[in-house]
This record gives sequence, structure tokens and C-alpha cells, in this order.
Amino acid sequence: MRKNSPQVPSPDFRGKEEYAWIAVGSIEQIALGQGRCFLIGARQIAIFRLRSGEVYALDAVCPHRGGPLAEGLVGRDTVVCPLHALKFSLKDGRGLDNDFTVRSYPVEMRDGNLFVGLPPRDQS
Ligand code: FES
Repeated sequence: MRKNSPQVPSPDFRGKEEYAWIAVGSIEQIALGQGRCFLIGARQIAIFRLRSGEVYALDAVCPHRGGPLAEGLVGRDTVVCPLHALKFSLKDGRGLDNDFTVRSYPVEMRDGNLFVGLPPRDQS
């Protein structure tokens, strides 16, 4: 593995081989320690590039009142929504100080390019 190349987590996305892998482009589009919103299919998906090199993807719209999660404060493995400061896990989208859950997506790196996996039910 190349030095400083992004590490992609491998959370439990069952049936991942059936996902449609959508190319997003170079990891360099996302500043270290920040998120960026991408339109992927019909979804707004926030992709977060951590300073540790890990990359995560969540729905970009906060389930509380629609805040832009890609603009949230990124921690070691959390994001804080910029509107009302609810905190979510980047690993699985679980609310850490609330009962909401943000949908999470698998991410893969291939030759420096990001791919986000959309589950079969989102492909039509
Ligand atoms: S809209 Fe995200 S915390 Fe309220």
C-alpha cells in the first residue's frame, strides 16, 4: 500500500457484492479531515476523509431537520451536524447522543479513485 493512501473501513454491509459501485472520482477532491457532498444516483451522499486515512459515506441529509452533514465537524470517527449539533458515528451512521440513524454506505478505493456502493434496492 502506498504511503498515506486512504484506508477504507470494512463495516458489515451484507450482500456487498450485489451493490452497484458508483465512481465518485479522486480522493483528492475531499480535504483531509472534512466531508463533501456528492450527488450519487438520486441520493446526496456525504463522503468523509479522515486525517487517519479512513473514508466513510453517509446520507448527506441529517435525519433530524435536514442539516448538511458534509459540512459538519468531523472528529476521529464522528460527525457533528452543523445545525443543532447532534452527533453521529461515521462507521455506521448511528446517533451517538440521539435516537436517529443516518444511512451509511460502503466505500472502496481503486487506484486512488473512490467508489460508493448502492444497495440493490436503490439501483432502479
Ligand atoms: S438538522 Fe442535524 S441536528 Fe438538527
